[in-house]
Order: sequence, then C-alpha cells, then structure tokens
Amino acid sequence: MAPENPSGGGSIKSVLHETRVFPPPADFAKDAGIKSLDEYQALWDRAKDDPEAFWAEQAASLDWFQTWDRVLDWNPPFAQWFVGGKLNASYNCVDRHCKGPDRNKAALIFEGEPGDRRVLRYQDLLREVSKFANVLKGLGVKKGDVVALYLPMIPELVIAALACARIGAPHTVVFGGFSAEALSGRIQDCKAKVLVTADGGWRRGKVVPLKVNADGAAALCPTLKSVVVYKRTGHDVDWTPGRDHWWHELEANVSADCPAEPLDSEHPLFILYTSGSTGKPKGILHTTGGYLLQASLSTKWVFDLKPDDTYWCTADVGWVTGHSYLTYGPLAQGATCVMYEGAPNWPDEARFWKIIEDYRVSILYTAPTAIRAFMKWGEQHPKKHDLSSLRLLGSVGEPINPEAWMWYHEVIGGGRCPIVDTWWQTETGAIMISPLPGATPTIPGSATRPLPGIIPAIVTKDGVPVGENEGGFLVITRPWPSMLRTIFGDDERYKAQYWSDVPGNYFTGDGARRDEHGNYWILGRVDDVLNVAGHRLSTMEIESALVSHAAVAEAAVVGKPDEIKGQGISCFVTLESHHAPSEKLRQELRAHVAKEIGALARPDEIHFTESLPKTRSGKIMRRLLRDVAAGVESTGDTSTLEDVGVLALLRRGGQQEE
Ligand code: PRX
Repeated sequence: MAPENPSGGGSIKSVLHETRVFPPPADFAKDAGIKSLDEYQALWDRAKDDPEAFWAEQAASLDWFQTWDRVLDWNPPFAQWFVGGKLNASYNCVDRHCKGPDRNKAALIFEGEPGDRRVLRYQDLLREVSKFANVLKGLGVKKGDVVALYLPMIPELVIAALACARIGAPHTVVFGGFSAEALSGRIQDCKAKVLVTADGGWRRGKVVPLKVNADGAAALCPTLKSVVVYKRTGHDVDWTPGRDHWWHELEANVSADCPAEPLDSEHPLFILYTSGSTGKPKGILHTTGGYLLQASLSTKWVFDLKPDDTYWCTADVGWVTGHSYLTYGPLAQGATCVMYEGAPNWPDEARFWKIIEDYRVSILYTAPTAIRAFMKWGEQHPKKHDLSSLRLLGSVGEPINPEAWMWYHEVIGGGRCPIVDTWWQTETGAIMISPLPGATPTIPGSATRPLPGIIPAIVTKDGVPVGENEGGFLVITRPWPSMLRTIFGDDERYKAQYWSDVPGNYFTGDGARRDEHGNYWILGRVDDVLNVAGHRLSTMEIESALVSHAAVAEAAVVGKPDEIKGQGISCFVTLESHHAPSEKLRQELRAHVAKEIGALARPDEIHFTESLPKTRSGKIMRRLLRDVAAGVESTGDTSTLEDVGVLALLRRGGQQEE
C-alpha cells in the first residue's frame, strides 16, 4: 500500500476551523459513570503506565469459567489476551442476566418494517439461543466450524449469532444487501458448513430476496451442507430437499437446554469480511475474551449506560457496529436494545422518530449519512414526535460534518443531549476514540480523545510523530484486547496490511491530526478504501467487478464528494475495441457491479474514456481522477504523467459520449 498525503482530507476540510465547544451538561455529568476530564485522564494515565494491570482489573467485569494465567502474550504482531482463561460470550450476554430479577428485563425490543412488534426478555433470549444452539448441533456443527448468517434485521440474527458463540462455532454475518456472488465468496473463504438465512426481509415495503441469493451462493459452495431458513415474509421460495430446513421445524424438536461451552479466551468468536485496498474482502478474525471485554466496557463508558436506559443502535448486524453495539456490548451489559428491521423512510420519513417516541428510547447511535438524509427530509418529521426521552446521541462510521453535528444536537437532541462521535474500525473491534459524555467537552467534527487503554499516535510515512495540528497517519502504538487477531487464513496479509507501513505500530489507514487540546480530528482514509454511506468498499473490488464485464478493458474507481453519502462512486472505464460507449452500456455496467457485489456498490457515475492517466511506470494516478470526479483543478504534481493530454480530455468530460 502506498498511502497518500493525509493532509489532503478532502470533504472534511471544513472541520479544521471548528471552534465551538460543548462541555458535558452538568446534570448529565452528575450521574455519569466517569464524571470529569480529570477522572478520565487519571484512568487513561493508569492504563498507559500499567496496561496489563488495567486490563486485568477491567476483565473482572466479565464472568469467567476459569481465570487467565497471563494477561497478554505479545508476539508482534500477534496478540493473545487473557491466556488460559475460559469464558463464553453467549453466557456473558444472556445467562448471567437470568440469575436475578433481570431475567424479566427486556433484552430486545423488535419492530419489523410492516409494524409487527416482539419483546424478548433475557430469559426468552436464553431459551431461544439455547434451542438454536441445539439446532446447530443437530446439523452436525462442532466447536470451530464456521456458520454463515445472511438474515434480515430480526431477533433471529442476534439469536443465531449467540447460539454460535454458545457452542464455539465462529459466525460470519453477511450483510443482507450483499449479492449471491459476494455471499458465496465469503462462504468459500471461511469454508462455512451451514448457512442461516430467511425467506426474505422487509425493506421499503418490498421483500429482499435473501433465499434467492442464498440459493445462488449455495450452488457455488461445495463446503456448504445445510441451509436453515427462517420464515419471515411467508412468500414462496425454491427448496432443495436434504439441504434446506425450516428454522421452525428444526426448533420444534430440540430441547431448550444447552449449557454454554467453556471456551479459551482466544477461541474465535467471529469472522467479519471487510474491504481493504485489494480486490478481495478480508476476513477479520475476532476472538472471545478480549473482544467481549472491550465491546462491553466501551458500551458502558461511551454510552454511560444505566439500568433503565432504552438503547437503540440503528446499524445492521451485518456490519461491525451491529456486532459490537447491538449484540455483544449492550447484551453483555444487560441493556434493553431496540432493533428495527427496515428503512428509515418507510412508510414515511418520520419512522425513526416514531420509534423513539413509542419506546421512549434514551440513547440513539446512528451514522452521519443517516443524519444528513434526515436533514434533507426536513425537521418537520422529528418535530411531529416527542423525543424528550433521549439523553445521549452517538455517531459512527464516517466523519460527521459540523453542520450535521449541529442539526443532530439541536433538532434531535433538543440542545440537551451530548453527542459521542465514535471512531473505530472493523479491525479494532470496539470504539477507540470518543468523548465520554459526562467528562469530555465535545466539538462538532472531532472524535476527541482515545479511550483508556488506547495509545494512538499520528506519524509521518517514516513513523516520525508529527507536530500539533499537523496531518499524519493515525496509528495505534500498543496492542489492545479487542484488536483483530489476523486476517482469516492469511497471516502474511495481516502483517503486510496493518503492521508494515509503520513498523511496530498498527496502521489504521486513516489520516488524522491532533489539536493543541489533545483532541483527534479524523481526516478520512488515506488508502484506496471508500466510505459510501458509512459502508466500506474497496476501489479495487469495484474495479475487479467492472473488468469482469466483457466490454471493459480497464477501470479506475475513485470516491467523489457526496452531500448525503459522504462519498459517491465514480468510475473511469476504457472499453474493449469492439465495444462502443452508450447509455445502455453504462446502465448495464452499473447493474453488473450491483450483481457482483451488491446494490451498495452500484456506481454513481461511469465515465467512458479512451485512456486513463498513468505514470510512466504504468500506475493509475487516482489523485487526478479524484479531482476530475470532484470537478476541481488538480494542484498536485503532474510531471510524472505519461500522457498529459489524457487529463485535458477527461476534464472535457471524456471523449466518447454518444
Ligand atoms: O475511515 C474511518 C471511518 O470508517 C472506517 C472504518 O470502517 P469500518 O471498518 O466499516 O467500521 C465502521 C464502523 C466502526 C475508519 O477507518 N470511520 C469510522 N468511524 C469514524 C470514521 N471516520 C471519522 N469519524 C468517525 N467517527
């Protein structure tokens, strides 16, 4: 990877001038777990001075079947945490809350898009998770076998994940918006034996054809033995006897008793695929003890969870946010979580606000892309609903622009709710940089400070720390419990991808700067990763999809600033000689990418061009293409360009429009 200059932070340059500071409201700080910046600082310093003692102390908040012998075994870049300890994530998220009065507390409050509602108390969750764990065992799933989950946002997704954790079968959740091809790639990479899916899910009043995609994927996956289908929509689906099983039929014949398996702290909990700077998604591997500890602890700290909170994380469980902050973190904390199946604008643009009013949601955690869409739809929608139950707001997944931050603060938070802008990644497992709402003054656009135990740095390409307010590469200098352990099946790629750019440090792929008060400002990705509506996509993944089409000779994909999505997808394509550019072909290529990856990767624009700007050594100069896509002048050096004429041609809108 050759990272580019992080100071060219693109769409978020405006945050550099932000000076508004919002101290924690006094009445919030009074009741908060961590009440002041001094208290935060003392905790952070203690963690820095004696990290192993700090993490060991924190780890006592989980229930262990057997205590660890060693807190950390660090064989760079491979870490093992709580070595020798035994625990179970499902036990920590469910069973332990069923030992007292919390057994009757709501764990999941579910609302389907059509308006159906279900509440699962902790003891209901225990029954359902145990039954499904027995279903998996009945299908021959053993400790260590990978199970793929391709489900809508319904409680069964959480139930299935926890059932896997209960028996030590790592799960891999594939977001329901991914195509059959993308699903099959993931199943093949991790050699999953069982796929759990549904007949469909509801999205904007239509059925998402999950079973159709599952059938398409299964046909390509020789390791897959069984497909379990949850009946959600009730419409007809194709059926492969012997391979396909209805969830409800299997469940009718199993016991509701399935003790949680004591697992090594380092037993794999899940693999989650995410995009890197190459064409093939990477299977990020997380293990049990360290991941669960940090997911749980950060939920408590960042959301300042109280026993009577109603907490709503709007992320899909197909992404890491749904793993850590809808499933493992809040359930380990014994929280009451709202889960919603469908679109935010169905049947109208007030759906989220109605949910908040109906369930008296007190904590809302969502993404800037959603907030920008809400802004566009207008404040008349939230104004129709009583949002006075809210006490804390969270943001995740991409930089939040100060305009969106202020709108969230005023229109949704009524000016009284602190906003936690949380920076982290699939790889980090848990929130790394974020305000603590009772302690940290917040600033629109800044994720503020690292959580206790996290020691970041901002460095040059050569690993030299940059000065105050200078842009550089964001790295993490020490191992942390919820860090990824490797890229599944590819230790070499793990080393090369994360630990070789700045030797001895974890390279995040993000640029950042730190201001004179110690606040971090994330400047966005410095590699070829796009962040489209909070979804992480690789430019090369989209390029591979484009060149797999017979008409395409070469493709270069770049991000382009987008008001709602943060980034849009802009493609530059050269065609094979016997193909001519046309609007029809453009639409065909957009559909082709959606089929290969999923609708979330459908290009916003495709430019046909006769050639691409390349250096004399043949490398595509993406920087120039980004400028063309954004419609701005290129200020950087163009002297290495092989053919300067290409640039002028591209600026005139390519050559080949019909
Ligand atoms: O570029 C950063 C951006 O999202 C990337 C991680 O994406 P993913 O692994 O899909 O995880 C998203 C949910 C944690 C990061 O490298 N990012 C995430 N949170 C923020 C952010 N950028 C700025 N501010 C944030 N709060």
